[in-house]
Amino acid sequence: MVSLARSSVSHIVRVQEVCAETQGEGVVSLAERSDGVDAPPYIPLKTVFIVDPLTRHRGDLAEALRGQYEVEEFADAPALKERLRALRPSLILVDEATPPDGGGAVVQRLRESQATHSIPIVGMTRSGGSRFVSLLHEAELGILIKPATLHTLYDAVTHAICKSVEDEWQTLEENQRLALTQTIAVFRDLPDQIMNGEPIEYVSIRESCAPIVTAVCNNQFSDLLNGVKGHDNYSYVHSVRVAILLAHFGRELGLPRDDLLTLGTGGVLHDLGKVAIPHYVLNKPGRLTPEEWVVMRSHVDRSIELLDCIEHLPRGVMTIAAQHHEKLDGTGYPHGLKGSELNELARMAAIVDVFGALTDQRIYKPPHAPDAALDMMREMGPNHLDQHLLTLFRSMLLDTASVVQAL
Ligand SMILES: [Fe+2]
Ligand SMILES: [Fe+2]
Repeated sequence: MVSLARSSVSHIVRVQEVCAETQGEGVVSLAERSDGVDAPPYIPLKTVFIVDPLTRHRGDLAEALRGQYEVEEFADAPALKERLRALRPSLILVDEATPPDGGGAVVQRLRESQATHSIPIVGMTRSGGSRFVSLLHEAELGILIKPATLHTLYDAVTHAICKSVEDEWQTLEENQRLALTQTIAVFRDLPDQIMNGEPIEYVSIRESCAPIVTAVCNNQFSDLLNGVKGHDNYSYVHSVRVAILLAHFGRELGLPRDDLLTLGTGGVLHDLGKVAIPHYVLNKPGRLTPEEWVVMRSHVDRSIELLDCIEHLPRGVMTIAAQHHEKLDGTGYPHGLKGSELNELARMAAIVDVFGALTDQRIYKPPHAPDAALDMMREMGPNHLDQHLLTLFRSMLLDTASVVQAL
């Protein structure tokens, strides 16, 4: 438990940090704010190896990925092989022209070796029709056509790293596996479906969240919380954690299963609008500029627009998405709603979202321990979060050891 006995100066700084962090989706670095200097990331970054004979290409890729990942560069296969004896990276980017035998030979050796066969690989090529590409397709590996845009590069890297985490979900008990595989499918498909004008059935989204509610009702959701750790899609990780905690909160308040499904679905969809926020803003390691803050905050309006396209969406799901950044004193966004304008659902969503942001692990801030996060939320005072609900939420979490351990 964090001690509340602090000097008045450190207390004020701490509360300001919490407010800035939660307002900005946890985007401002605590380390950066504490001394005004960009500090190294708090948690170890995932390591990406780049194997490419062309120094400039390697350098461009490394430059684009540094900050998000620890990057190491290799000019040929022997140099890669030597380094793999000491370190297992989270991903290897292999160029088709890698000496001495080409990228295909590198990929084959990596896949055949017991030590390296499960490392995600993305092959890089200038041509979409080569034998190298066929090999990548057959092995279900990532492909990056050069020259690649930043967006395409991030997509390929993130997808490959996520896939390795998702493959491990197959070992989970059925309900837990379904909870994660069905929600990630919704998370991936929904924006495309909306952009393509395809009809979205709320019932199917809701059903994808049913295993989360089942897990919550059976007090068996620590595997879910552990299962999403290490996934490279932060928005998904955050949304699933919010869904689990919202459903758990609702169950604690005695709500029926139907309402728990609305809470779980609302949690999964509450930040849907972040699909429209550029990667460099969502994952920026340092301080956001005023313009970037505006872009970040626009995710709520984008969520409302996207959810508006879904027929028969319960009002509760929309409320969670539209009001989770509002504050009781009217200083929240997007509409500055205050007091009685915020119903119980909006107040619950705000509490869970702040708690999620504080306990989430990001590359630029530590994941606060649950009890420390709860202390920080209480220090934020009565103008932001509903104090009665916060007390109930706090009791619920501190009474559920399995949640606290898994967070
Ligand atoms: Fe949000
Ligand atoms: Fe959120």
